[in-house]
Amino acid sequence: MADGSSETKSSNQMWGGRFASGPDAIMEEINASIGFDKKLYAQDIRGSIAHATMLAHQGIISAEDKDKIVHGLDTILSEIDSGAFEFSRRLEDIHMNIEARLAALIGPAAGRLHTARSRNDQVALDIRLWVKEELQKTEKALTGLIAAFLDRAEEHAETVMPGFTHLQTAQPVTFGHHCMAYVEMFGRDRARVRHAIEHMDESPIGAAALAGTGFPIDRHMTAKALGFREPTRNSIDTVSDRDFALEFLSIAAIAATHLSRLAEEIVIWSTPQFGFIRLSDAFSTGSSIMPQKKNPDAAELVRAKTGRVNGSLVALLTVMKGLPLAYSKDMQEDKEQVFDAAESLELAIAAMTGMIRDVTIRADRMKAAAGSGYSTATDLADWLVREAGLPFRDAHHVTGRVVALAEQKGCDLADLPLAELQAINSAITDKVYGVLTVEASVASRTSFGGTAPSEVRKQIAWWRARN
Ligand code: ARG
Repeated sequence: MADGSSETKSSNQMWGGRFASGPDAIMEEINASIGFDKKLYAQDIRGSIAHATMLAHQGIISAEDKDKIVHGLDTILSEIDSGAFEFSRRLEDIHMNIEARLAALIGPAAGRLHTARSRNDQVALDIRLWVKEELQKTEKALTGLIAAFLDRAEEHAETVMPGFTHLQTAQPVTFGHHCMAYVEMFGRDRARVRHAIEHMDESPIGAAALAGTGFPIDRHMTAKALGFREPTRNSIDTVSDRDFALEFLSIAAIAATHLSRLAEEIVIWSTPQFGFIRLSDAFSTGSSIMPQKKNPDAAELVRAKTGRVNGSLVALLTVMKGLPLAYSKDMQEDKEQVFDAAESLELAIAAMTGMIRDVTIRADRMKAAAGSGYSTATDLADWLVREAGLPFRDAHHVTGRVVALAEQKGCDLADLPLAELQAINSAITDKVYGVLTVEASVASRTSFGGTAPSEVRKQIAWWRARN
């Protein structure tokens, strides 16, 4: 029809140069996932071998065809490993690329592999296997980071630094205690990782397109062969579910948020104004114009990677939120988010582990800062409660007057003469000087989980037994 063809032609012109070859090219570009899902080739091949083996075991395909299929898949695995494999965008995704190559290698037997299977359960399997392996890697990486902190905490169980609230000097703490705060945080991340591995440890393969299959497959056999605890229990849910990817991304986002807070502290502590730490050359850079500078680039980039990871979580939640059951092509968009977040998190943990291992702690600077800002004022108030029997509210008031006096004289609490202290409250004796030092302050905080070196050492031992 003359009219119809001229309409097509004018539409094509409107789409412009990039898509000059017309709607086919646009469709191929939006539809194809091979550019990123080729990362799943090893999982895809492993899944296919388990599936083919099960099909033969159940008498659904012949042993001879199974052998050809397995041999062909092994060949493809080494072709991809060695870089010899040619991926084709025309073949859309990793599943069809491998299947087409299998047909070229072994002929018609290749067509039997897809019996009792769909790309829907196939992709659910591949990405689940990938995420599970990534979680296992994350668990190891977090264990390494925790170990680095435990070593630094042990070294600095007695090193005094200012503890902050609102980034204002609050009370003296030990640097070991501060390190152990991060051990708790990354320990929780690792517990979440372990829980997620357990949670997702079910095999999707055999759910087929969405309804299961009439072939007498054995899903327990494939589950076992692929290292899963058991098969999933609902075929519709199986091909619709990306919770495991969302869980991975949530865990990654929380861990990245912890890393970012640590990165922020590193940035602050390494400034000349704070001077609590000196970063190793390996994890900092110089300025091209200001020769005196040493910039905490690695820490800044760890802080920035958090934005990507959090973005991936929001992106996939948004992809999933409107999808009716079961599979929709939208779900193809899970992979780039998962891959990008995984890469960012791995790198961030590795960089942070290196920084913590290498950083020089400037204990003298920490101690000097710990004593400034009347950080032992609470110790004075506590002393008045304990030794002079004052109610805490009154002790707080008396201490406030002592701090005001020190401020007015421009000296530390410990430098105020006894007579002047006694003029504020007559119950004060010279024993009070024993609690005004930062060392005495931290040593006194022996409550469970407190900052006293003795308590910090107990917490280190508890974690060492679990790391
Ligand atoms: N490339 C697809 C994905 O990643 C594979 C599944 C395609 N299934 C389908 N029914 N078109 O989700």
